[in-house]
Amino acid sequence: MAIHILDKSFKSYLSKEEIAARIDALAERINHDYAGKNPLLIPILNGSFMFASDLFKKLTIPAEISFIKLASYKGTQSTGNVITAIGLETDIFQRHVIVVEDIVDTGKTLSIFLPQLAHQQPHSLNVCALLHKKEATVHPIDITYLGFEIPNLFVVGYGLDYNGQGRNLDCIMQVAD
Ligand code: IMP
Repeated sequence: MAIHILDKSFKSYLSKEEIAARIDALAERINHDYAGKNPLLIPILNGSFMFASDLFKKLTIPAEISFIKLASYKGTQSTGNVITAIGLETDIFQRHVIVVEDIVDTGKTLSIFLPQLAHQQPHSLNVCALLHKKEATVHPIDITYLGFEIPNLFVVGYGLDYNGQGRNLDCIMQVAD
């Protein structure tokens, strides 16, 4: 089934059942890998809210969650692009941190943000992403927990937006034109 959002058409790509099954598998691995470690999930808003919520519900081990939003601005010549995390109130020193992203595209966002988190000396730092456009990679990111590798096509739904629209779809659709 095709839908229209603003000026674009989108067609089905991943059903809610396929997403749910993949999240079950990711949660099972996290439950196993982080048993006794009380991990802190840090989902990046807005895109990851649905994924993070469904993933978190499937964790059966003690775990915490703290959503953040990233604001990016141009720093000085020596600092380059700076990304600041808004809302990270939990101290991550010595914590087992899992950054939760909706999609890793060029890898730029995480290539700037992960070193900033690492600087705060967490015990461990891993990435869990629902989608990865491997072909679009400019900055390689090590994604320990990956939902789906997808082609370099624009997608919406399940938290992902096209100009602010489409986040509320319960499945993921890809651009059709
Ligand atoms: P990166 O910094 O290039 O890896 O981009 C990551 C961000 O770009 C994601 O968190 C999304 O907000 C956005 N993004 C990249 N590709 C898509 C897409 O196909 N649909 C919606 N948002 C996307």
